[in-house]
Amino acid sequence: MGISGQITAAVAPQAAMKSEMTPFPPTDGQALRSAFGRFGTGVTIITTQTAQGPLGMTANSFSSISLDPPLVLWSAALRSKRHDAFAQAATFCIHILAENQHRLANHFASQGHDFTGFDWFPGPTGSPQLKGCLAAFHCTRFAVHPAGDHSMIVGRIEHAAERGGEGAGLLFDQGRFGTFTPK
Ligand SMILES: Cc1cc2nc3c(=O)[nH]c(=O)nc-3n(C[C@H](O)[C@H](O)[C@H](O)COP(=O)(O)O)c2cc1C
Repeated sequence: MGISGQITAAVAPQAAMKSEMTPFPPTDGQALRSAFGRFGTGVTIITTQTAQGPLGMTANSFSSISLDPPLVLWSAALRSKRHDAFAQAATFCIHILAENQHRLANHFASQGHDFTGFDWFPGPTGSPQLKGCLAAFHCTRFAVHPAGDHSMIVGRIEHAAERGGEGAGLLFDQGRFGTFTPK
């Protein structure tokens, strides 16, 4: 390989990186949704107790925020039929799903009120706690911020629990469930 070959080799990766991405206007909702979907996440189920009984919803917008005070957040879509119940809930429970719980995730994505077939019990704040999850955070509502077509719901953790031993989380990436492979 001559000098020109070396130069090509040094420049090529940069050129390739530039052409790897196609810019798009952030007002293109479909393209933005697709790009957001490149951020792989864990999967949670949020539960609360309502006058109509227990309510659940699958959410991957969960994020930890603060240790002191202990705060977490998730975002509920305004267009969801379950939005108002969660935005108004005084307490709710956030469950971190285990890698074998994709059936639970699909179930509470498609509807919220049917808990038959899943083990649960009323948690310390009254919100349902589902069994078999990796961690559960029982929260009181700390703040609800309007944020475009979602509400950002911030919870203050009043009671927390984590499953002992090993156990990987259920993951969600580009619209698919998966599991973690350590490098
Ligand atoms: C993996 C996954 C993550 C989701 N994350 C959220 C979320 O963070 N916020 C949200 O509002 N909906 C989320 N959804 C959609 C809801 O679970 C539910 O399907 C949607 O709100 C429709 O609700 P509705 O039947 O009450 O209208 C997610 C769905 C899946 C499958």
